[in-house]
Amino acid sequence: MNAAASEVLVERDGAVGIATLNRPQALNALSMPLMKALIDALETFDADSSIRVMIVAGSPRAFAAGADINEMKDLADAKAAEAAMAEHLGRWDRIGRLKKPVIAAVSGFALGGGCELAMACDLILASETAVFGQPEILIGVIPGAGGTQRLTKAVGKSLAMDLVLTGRRLTAREALAAGLVARVLAPEVLLDEAKKLAREIAKGSPLAAQAAKAAANAAVDRQLDAGLSRERQLFYTLFDTQDQKEGMRAFAEKRVPKFEGK
Ligand code: CAA
Repeated sequence: MNAAASEVLVERDGAVGIATLNRPQALNALSMPLMKALIDALETFDADSSIRVMIVAGSPRAFAAGADINEMKDLADAKAAEAAMAEHLGRWDRIGRLKKPVIAAVSGFALGGGCELAMACDLILASETAVFGQPEILIGVIPGAGGTQRLTKAVGKSLAMDLVLTGRRLTAREALAAGLVARVLAPEVLLDEAKKLAREIAKGSPLAAQAAKAAANAAVDRQLDAGLSRERQLFYTLFDTQDQKEGMRAFAEKRVPKFEGK
């Protein structure tokens, strides 16, 4: 097994396909190889007629703490960022386009690209330890994998702006109250409850489940593609700034960034 493949553990439990992010030492930071392994696993499940429902899970301490900042910090400018990241960021879009229902089982940090990954799934089950946020502003950029779009649709513009402009986090209970997550569970039962829910969905007609998903997406994904494309262009333009370089380098150097608006 290569390194990236072992960073996503793939399991089949009857009609339920489970992909578990397994890079705990980096809080499941969503590197390019890890995201490639994840989308490969999910698209394989989506094409497999014996699988009806999918689960994306993380580690107890982190669902995922975002895209991998180390892969982005030295990108020279917007053009380099787009060249390096277009395919990578497109993987979150591909998760949103899977036909079968996808449950995100979130424990611990779901930040930046991790929150965007959870939101690209169809529903989120959160453990009591889950925290959600889009902290990109704290490293001099903005969400680039759908955060400004999906969070705004999930919780409304005012709260989404509060989170995106400050980088502050929501607890699981706050996320439940805001409509971002469907259920909050004790950490020790999170995965079992996700499997139970998946099995319950899998008992019904898979065609009806896929139709229900497509119909719900038509309600919330109106103009999503245009919004994602606008977000992505703005995300790339920030790689032309000193603030992006300062923000990401400060994270890597474990210091507080100094933003000068340049
Ligand atoms: N990228 C790369 N490495 C990361 C990471 C990330 N997003 N998040 C955490 N890590 C690494 C840390 O560098 C650290 O590695 P070392 O042990 O080698 O130093 C390890 O994971 C553990 O992290 P911390 O020591 O920082 O743990 P902590 O408990 O002190 O803090 C945290 C946890 C608050 C989640 C903190 O790690 C953090 O702020 N992470 C970054 C969150 C973030 O900014 N996410 C957005 C990324 S940009 C993005 O996602 C763009 C997009 O829209 C696609």
